[in-house]
Amino acid sequence: MSRHFDIGLETLAGRAVAASVDAGAPARGTFYIETFGCQMNDHDTEKVAGLLLSRGYRQADSPAAASFLLYNTCSIREKAAQKVFSRLGEYREQPDSGRMIGVIGCLAQQEGEDIFARSPWVGLVCGSASYHKLPELLARVEAGERRVTGLESDTDETFETELTRRDNPLRAYLTIIEGCDKACSYCVVPFTRGPERSRTSEAVLEEARQLAGLGYTEIQLLGQTVNSYCDPGPRGLRFSQLLREVAEIPGVRRLRFTTSHPREFTPDIVAAIDAHPAICEHVHLPVQSGSTRVLEEMQRGYTRQEYLEKVAILRAAQREISITTDLIVGFPGESEADFEATLTLMDEVRFDAVFAFKYSPRPNTPSLRMADAIPEEEKSRRLAVLLEKQRQIQTARHETFLGRTFEVLVSGKARQEKQWAGNTSGYRLLNFTSPLPDLLGQYIQVRVTGAGANSLTGEQVI
Ligand code: 5AD
Ligand code: SF4
Repeated sequence: MSRHFDIGLETLAGRAVAASVDAGAPARGTFYIETFGCQMNDHDTEKVAGLLLSRGYRQADSPAAASFLLYNTCSIREKAAQKVFSRLGEYREQPDSGRMIGVIGCLAQQEGEDIFARSPWVGLVCGSASYHKLPELLARVEAGERRVTGLESDTDETFETELTRRDNPLRAYLTIIEGCDKACSYCVVPFTRGPERSRTSEAVLEEARQLAGLGYTEIQLLGQTVNSYCDPGPRGLRFSQLLREVAEIPGVRRLRFTTSHPREFTPDIVAAIDAHPAICEHVHLPVQSGSTRVLEEMQRGYTRQEYLEKVAILRAAQREISITTDLIVGFPGESEADFEATLTLMDEVRFDAVFAFKYSPRPNTPSLRMADAIPEEEKSRRLAVLLEKQRQIQTARHETFLGRTFEVLVSGKARQEKQWAGNTSGYRLLNFTSPLPDLLGQYIQVRVTGAGANSLTGEQVI
């Protein structure tokens, strides 16, 4: 039996969050990780860091202090990939710094060994489906191998770690399903993250109980299509049942989940939200386009009408559930009428927030070679029109909250001096004043006194 001791003790508002590490492991090199991309990547970094710590590696807080550097990368749009290549380019001048550079994550999986050709100073390339092999791959690097890869993607493995080095002391991410079996024609994720595979409900519930035991009050369940969750264990829970069970764990005050796919967004999920106050009143439900024709080209598996039916289920809930979405403008062949359909959908749904992107052609995706590319300037124009519409919708919606009181979990200081910032259960950002000196990590009642497009302002109700 190996001995365990506490590391990384973070105290927050009087709470201690501890992780443990295997003391029997030999001391090894020092690593630094930089993360690009989504919450899945943020959390993968936490798991990779935990895995390496448990094997005797130490974590550095700057690249200069590390013996090897890992870049956990994103390739969702070209800009994201360029950002990574420009970071790697910084080592062009110092290829012999003695530090091993590893590229992990989505860009690693997408570009594979081509990364060695483009950046010959890179020594390791590993996709997320091979993270469980990282210690073995690093040992090969340490033994002198120049170029090491972990690029298998057709796998049924999930990435289980004994230790996760969580960065956020307030919200704990918890993966329930990895990969993606959808085939959206614009998207790299099915290629970069491999096929869908769920963790057992036993493993998920055990981790959630541990998190509650460590003092986390907010848990966010993660998956590319989180609601496709299908328990491979003997209990065979479906997503809404898992939600209910996590929400019942003592100490869990807020349970979030992302990202939901409209096709599997079923009424039982809304029933679970209604039945469990701990499940946050917020659903992120990417629609991508308001045009059924474009949705079909995107291979999203639903029509505009079917999406609106999902929205109707959410609107019929007893609780007031925020709905946020992702939109793509300028998909190949998107006509002015298609774009108008996205704008009218926005008017119909009145989303609480929108993440909007210009279509970016990606390698290994079916839409890469589609005809009728939309010119860049036209994509920019459509994006600006869309964002202005959303700004108006949000401002009007936020004004309806004036005078109401919300509970917020305080996550930090606001930009404005003497203000705190926190999120409501519906994931609205609320900046507020308080006479009290330290509120970090606390749940506070706040009355809304001001409404802007992107946030609310208010004052603590004492
Ligand atoms: N171009 C632009 N946006 C994209 N997204 C995914 N792939 C692309 C692409 N090729 C957007 C989708 C998705 C979000 C995470 O990124 O809106 O929901
Ligand atoms: Fe996340 Fe997708 Fe970017 Fe991968 S490609 S990091 S899954 S957003």
